[in-house]
Formats: sequence, structure tokens, C-alpha cells
Amino acid sequence: MKFASEHKAFWDACNKNYPDQMGPSGFGGQLFGSRTLAGIHAVLNADHSDRFAKPSDRNWMSSIYPFIADQRFTKIGALAMTYKGLVIYKTPFDLALYPRLIWELQPRTILELGSAQGGSGLWFADKMSVLCEKLGEVHSFDLYSKIVHERARKHPLLTFHQIDLSDVTNFDKDMLISLPHPWLVIDDAHVQIFSVFSYLNDFLVSGDYYVIEDNPVHANREFIDGFQLIEQAGFLIDTYYTDAFGTNVTCASNAWLRKS
Ligand SMILES: C[S@@+](CC[C@H](N)C(=O)[O-])C[C@H]1O[C@@H](n2cnc3c(N)ncnc32)[C@H](O)[C@@H]1O
Repeated sequence: MKFASEHKAFWDACNKNYPDQMGPSGFGGQLFGSRTLAGIHAVLNADHSDRFAKPSDRNWMSSIYPFIADQRFTKIGALAMTYKGLVIYKTPFDLALYPRLIWELQPRTILELGSAQGGSGLWFADKMSVLCEKLGEVHSFDLYSKIVHERARKHPLLTFHQIDLSDVTNFDKDMLISLPHPWLVIDDAHVQIFSVFSYLNDFLVSGDYYVIEDNPVHANREFIDGFQLIEQAGFLIDTYYTDAFGTNVTCASNAWLRKS
């Protein structure tokens, strides 16, 4: 599995070049400590065969809910994050996970639903420009697009669209058809989530990702039915992302979804 192999390459190089430094008293032990070394060992030997899970096989629980935890324990936290001086409503966990997915997926198109000030779109466009071998496009959609800051509008990979997502027929179908794959779709608008998903799913192909942010801590009827629809549409939860820092320690509980 690719995850372990990247780490393995680093540790193989350490072992090959500095074999006598790799014990607890060498630089390996000094840098990481024996408990951390045990954790690294677990990373190297992790079994990822159960990485992709059906929504119906998962509990709707989270080890912590990052936005609430930050409010309670750090006073400012995730809701006060900025990027290049613009508001970005992402948790530190998700800011760590998206670059990993962008590197792994190499998306040619990122669709963001919900632009706010444009800080997150700008962040995605910057990430794409440094992480993707072939540059693609970021399209960010919002009804209140006048709020988008000029600094975000200047990014060459990033385009903002004004659209009311409460009616999916407002999407420009011809544009969607023309956008190259793989796609990474991030729904951060929270408007008609499952209608928008069903509509966009017709344009998605196998291997594309769909992330639904800020879903409820406890699943309600709408989400139970919605995730049934998602499962029927052939999507699996990528638990590498949902559970990287603990079960569903992400703002997108059970909702880093890969189309089979
Ligand atoms: C949580 S914010 C987006 C945050 C942003 N993606 C970020 O990470 O910083 C949700 C956005 O959805 C937009 N929104 C609300 N209703 C909408 C609608 N009917 N159509 C399109 N966008 C809408 C709001 O204007 C708001 O900017």
C-alpha cells in the first residue's frame, strides 16, 4: 500500500545508511523516543486492506468533533483559521488531510461548493499548483459570491461562480461535462446536500472523490437516507482520511467518499 511504502522508503534509507544509529540510543531513538518509534513501526506495518468501507458498515460516531473541541479547549481554533489573510473554515485535521488526498488523487478538477471569502478556494488552488503534476482547475460556487476577496480571484487556477445550489439545474451542465478527471468535489455549502450529490454523481467517474463537510455529530433521518443513496451509487468511505487522527476526526464524518 502506498501509504506505508512512502514511510518505508525513509526508514529503509535510515537503516541502510546509519544502521548503528537506529537503536534506542542512536538518532532514531533520540529523535523519536521509544514510544514514538513503536508508533512508527505500527505505521510501517499497518494493514490497509480494510481501508474502504460501506456507509452501512460504519457507526455515526466521532472521537472528537474538531470544531466543538476547538471552541471548548482553545477558544479560537478552527473557526478562527485564516489563509493568506482570508477566512478558511477548515479544521487543522482537514487541512492536514486534503494535501494527502490531492497528492494521492492528482485531481485535474476541484469543485468546491461554498466559497465564503475565497480563502479555502485559494488554499485548494495553491495546493493543486504545488502537489499536482498536471495542473488542473479549481471551481468554487456560492450564492453570495460578492463576498469573495479580490486576492482569491487573482489565482490563475481558480474560478468563482455565482449559483444558487438549492436548485441543481442552475449548474452549467456543459461546463461540468468539459472538466477533466479525476475530480475532487467538496460540499461545504450545506444546501440540498443529497440532491446536489445525486446531480453531480452523474458527472463523476470511478476513482473520483466527494467530501461532504460539516455533517451532523449524530446522524438524523436525512443523513441515514442520504448515505443509503450514496452507498447505492457505489461510493465507499475512505477510512484512511476519516480515521487518520481517530474515528471521524474530521469535519466530514464518514464522508470522504470514493466512487467505485
Ligand atoms: C461554510 S461556508 C463555506 C466555507 C468555505 N468553503 C471555507 O472552507 O472557508 C458555506 C457557504 O455556503 C454558501 N451558501 C449558502 N446558501 C447557499 C446557496 N443556496 N447556494 C450557494 N451557496 C450557498 C454561503 O454563502 C457560505 O459562503
